[in-house]
Amino acid sequence: MTVYGTRPEAIKCAPVVQALAASPDFEGITVVTGQHREMLDQVNELFGIVPDHDLDVMSHGQTLSGIFARVLDGLDPLLVSEQPDAVVVQGDTTTSTAAALAAFYRGIPVVHLEAGLRSGDLASPFPEEGNRRLTSQIASVHLAPTTTSRDNLVAEGVDPDRIVVTGNTVIDALLDTVRRGLPFADGALEDAVTSGRKVLLVTTHRRENWGGAMQGVGRAVARLARDHEDLLVVLPAHRNPVVREAILPELSGLPNVVVTEPLPYGEFARLMSEAHVILSDSGGVQEEAPSLGTPVLVMRDTTERPEAVAAGAVRLVGTDEETIVSEVGRLLRDAEAHASMATAANPYGDGTAARQSLDAIRAMVPAQRGPQGSPS
Ligand code: UD1
Ligand code: UDP
Repeated sequence: MTVYGTRPEAIKCAPVVQALAASPDFEGITVVTGQHREMLDQVNELFGIVPDHDLDVMSHGQTLSGIFARVLDGLDPLLVSEQPDAVVVQGDTTTSTAAALAAFYRGIPVVHLEAGLRSGDLASPFPEEGNRRLTSQIASVHLAPTTTSRDNLVAEGVDPDRIVVTGNTVIDALLDTVRRGLPFADGALEDAVTSGRKVLLVTTHRRENWGGAMQGVGRAVARLARDHEDLLVVLPAHRNPVVREAILPELSGLPNVVVTEPLPYGEFARLMSEAHVILSDSGGVQEEAPSLGTPVLVMRDTTERPEAVAAGAVRLVGTDEETIVSEVGRLLRDAEAHASMATAANPYGDGTAARQSLDAIRAMVPAQRGPQGSPS
């Protein structure tokens, strides 16, 4: 049983759900919690996934505890009725940790995709660093994207025999999607992106950046748009009203700033590859852009994804207005600095992570649960 609820989990679980469906020796059950609604459905549609169960938990202004409680409550009866041999969760969202705990309480082995990422700071990203540490405590199989994440788990006392380095399934999803060469549905966006202007792609949503920090990001982006009239800024706005209230007022009335609804993954992937620079606080974007040759400036002070920073494809710039203006400005002016970031290698896998994950699950999860696993 694969359980997911937000956009990034959906993108990263899709290759696993598809591989389970194609495998003769698994029966896959797909459960979505609906922690995200529109942004989740958009991904399932793209990958042709029709969930078997939908907990439909999202509400506007939802709290972390509210999501957690609704996921536990909604998933438990499904664990009893479906009796899965294992539950697969992905990453560090509230859906992910709540689903892992629900399975653990029923004695069902938890398989953790994208295990072992650590920023070392419980406050950043919040609550994700706490969520993933909790999941690591109760998972039976830890599928680590890189050797760095495996080493983090070993350092915390996880049995090395329960860890497999698979790469990150986001690369499977990305390569599959880019291969399809999907056009922009909005003709105006197609025209803007193909106009030959340099594109600055911006995304922001991190909870620890809400409020003043995000307003500062908005001011920095507005200054960049004013200072570089030939620059085109594209900001697909996260649906969270807290995010929109912080950043959108700073960007109004600027002719070279295009604000869109969340883009379907195929369009967003194409935009990432066409962009000159990406400015983002997203986890997934940090992992994807190095495969597409686009530099990413990450609006955070710490990252649990140090591999792309070490490779030179990603730089941490924080949320200070002046720093953002100067770091983006440098990549717009300095072709050499841009080229050195754009040519760095992708450290997150070769697009076979889902297959490797299934191999690990096949080898490490017994087909029949033992006495502790009785779903009574
Ligand atoms: C969640 C995850 C975060 C992940 C992010 C990806 C947690 C604690 N946070 O944060 O780890 O990086 O998703 O985007 O699990 N909304 C909609 N429609 C949607 C999605 C969201 O309207 O399709 C609005 C709702 O008003 C919702 C709000 O956004 O209440 C916040 O969503 P939520 O999942 O609680 O937080 P995110 O910031 O999206
Ligand atoms: N993404 C998308 N459409 C958009 C913005 C992002 O499909 O308009 C994809 C992006 O390529 C990445 C994922 O959504 O795979 C990242 O989601 P988000 O930034 O919301 O979450 P995070 O990765 O930070 O948890």
